[in-house]
Amino acid sequence: MTKPISIDAVQQQLGAEGYVCDRALGTVVFLALSLGRPLFLEGEAGVGKTEIAKALAASLGRRLIRLQCYEGLDASSAVYEWNFPAQMIAIRTAEAAGTADRAALQAELFSKDFLIERPLLDAMRPDENGAPVLLIDELDRTDEPFEAYLLEALSDFQVTIPELGTIKAPEPPIVILTSNRTREVHDALKRRCLYHWVDYPDFDREMEILSARAPEAAKNLSREVVAFVQQLRTEDLFKKPGVAETIDWAKCLIALDVLTLSPEVIADTLGAVLKYQDDIAKLQGSEAKRLLDQARASLEPS
Ligand SMILES: Nc1ncnc2c1ncn2[C@@H]1O[C@H](COP(=O)(O)OP(=O)(O)O)[C@@H](O)[C@H]1O
Ligand SMILES: [Mg+2]
Repeated sequence: MTKPISIDAVQQQLGAEGYVCDRALGTVVFLALSLGRPLFLEGEAGVGKTEIAKALAASLGRRLIRLQCYEGLDASSAVYEWNFPAQMIAIRTAEAAGTADRAALQAELFSKDFLIERPLLDAMRPDENGAPVLLIDELDRTDEPFEAYLLEALSDFQVTIPELGTIKAPEPPIVILTSNRTREVHDALKRRCLYHWVDYPDFDREMEILSARAPEAAKNLSREVVAFVQQLRTEDLFKKPGVAETIDWAKCLIALDVLTLSPEVIADTLGAVLKYQDDIAKLQGSEAKRLLDQARASLEPS
């Protein structure tokens, strides 16, 4: 599929993949595609950042290549590595056969056959369906040296392998970076990108997301679940529930044949929504009932 021609088209195409996209997000996605700029998405965990990249790749019919970041991630895991065990076997085999033409062997050992391509290199390879979507996920988990390295890779979309030469992307990949903001990502990298803060959805949008992701949930239960989670997010919690938790919780309640929330049901299933014991402890006793009453009150007018 071709790139969308308008913000409306972005929203509509992502919507067709089950992703509920508001106008502000639709705008930055449209601009990132039109201008060929990387898109930097920041927000709390579980608000749908990773999912945007998946939905975008699916809607454009492009390959999704994911680089999951973690502490200590280095260029060899992100770009390429030589297949050392295979090289060793090739050397032994050549030795045993007595065909020790050193120059030929050396050339063979450092050829494409022994190269392990990691996501960044993979994303620079030509693709008949068009450039892939490169998702650099949870960038805040890496360290600054890797960030600096990325900055360079993103600026010219080429990788130099000393033994093979420089590989350049014929068409730059569509790059999406995400951060859960456990630390600030460096300015230089941000400046290269379009930036968007992905917030928790409001009630109506979360209802839309829930009906896209858990269509089997009855309307009444969905409304209670969303209202309760929205209420929960106003509390002082260590980790507020994301959209993922709302969906999980609704699915748990459906599996238990629950038709309406009660303080008892909430107490029994809270592990689907809150993942820290301190937060769960805060909802003991009358707290769950108080929040449920508030949630129901917020539903009343309609
Ligand atoms: N706007 C949305 N439309 C559809 N589903 C969403 C949306 N936002 C979040 N989700 C759901 O929430 C889940 C978690 O989202 P994810 O992208 O993994 O969060 P993040 O990467 O921000 O931590 C996704 O699997 C998806 O089902
Ligand atoms: Mg994510």
